[in-house]
Amino acid sequence: MPEDKVIVNNLTKKFGDLLVLDDVSFTIGKGEFVCLVGPTGCGKTTFLNLLVKLIEPTAGEILIDGEPADPKRHSLSFVFQEPSAFPWLTVEDNIKFNLRIKKFPKNVIEERTEQMLKLVGLTQQRKLYPHQLSVSAEQRIVIARSFAMFPDLLLMDEPYGQMDIKLRYYLEDEVLRIWRETGSTVIFITHNIEEAVYLSQRCLVMSSKPTTVKTIRTIDLPYPRNVADPAFISIRQEITDMIKWW
Ligand SMILES: Nc1ncnc2c1ncn2[C@@H]1O[C@H](COP(=O)(O)OP(=O)(O)O)[C@@H](O)[C@H]1O
Ligand SMILES: [Mg+2]
Repeated sequence: MPEDKVIVNNLTKKFGDLLVLDDVSFTIGKGEFVCLVGPTGCGKTTFLNLLVKLIEPTAGEILIDGEPADPKRHSLSFVFQEPSAFPWLTVEDNIKFNLRIKKFPKNVIEERTEQMLKLVGLTQQRKLYPHQLSVSAEQRIVIARSFAMFPDLLLMDEPYGQMDIKLRYYLEDEVLRIWRETGSTVIFITHNIEEAVYLSQRCLVMSSKPTTVKTIRTIDLPYPRNVADPAFISIRQEITDMIKWW
């Protein structure tokens, strides 16, 4: 077993009387690609918000590398569910933003930015501002901004939800490539089970509220995966049957 990258201990989150996460515990290994799936409203985004300390847990804790999670100290990037490009920066400057904060050398910043612009197909639009682009393009800016960091921990909250299927397939392969090339640990949230089975080494299946982890399904199919492979279809079906969607 690899070392633990993320440890979730007895995590509980209530909003007033609403119990969302109910004593949830699991671990994620260093370098692992894990998908979190579960019905809308089960607390997937809440988990991510807890992980990056946007909100505080009611009880329990999340550790990264054995320490309380701290976005200032740990190398992590995230792509939120709602596109969150900085409106006052051009496409190019959005991508450079975190690299500049972390004081990467100038040549690395230029090189990564070119690479990422190409990866998300925004080279021609590099001087434009987010509001001049579509929602899908804005999300691609944020994806490029996160990928550019080659973070230790990459957090993605339904990042491809707004995209057409061709772009989604392309970016699914790209996140796998970045994961493989950088050795990052990836937590990828989705309610698309096919996407989860295509991407992850383990799939955490959440129940509906009050939410617990129902099952952790190891997916040991080789990459690249084939959505038409009978073994793939059978795992997809198994997970689909586990989720109560309402
Ligand atoms: N800040 C908040 N205040 C009150 N309720 C919230 C807040 N954030 C989320 N919730 C509620 O918590 C539940 C889980 O939400 P969320 O984590 O966004 O679900 P998911 O991402 O799985 O769709 C929902 O019922 C939602 O309405
Ligand atoms: Mg969500």
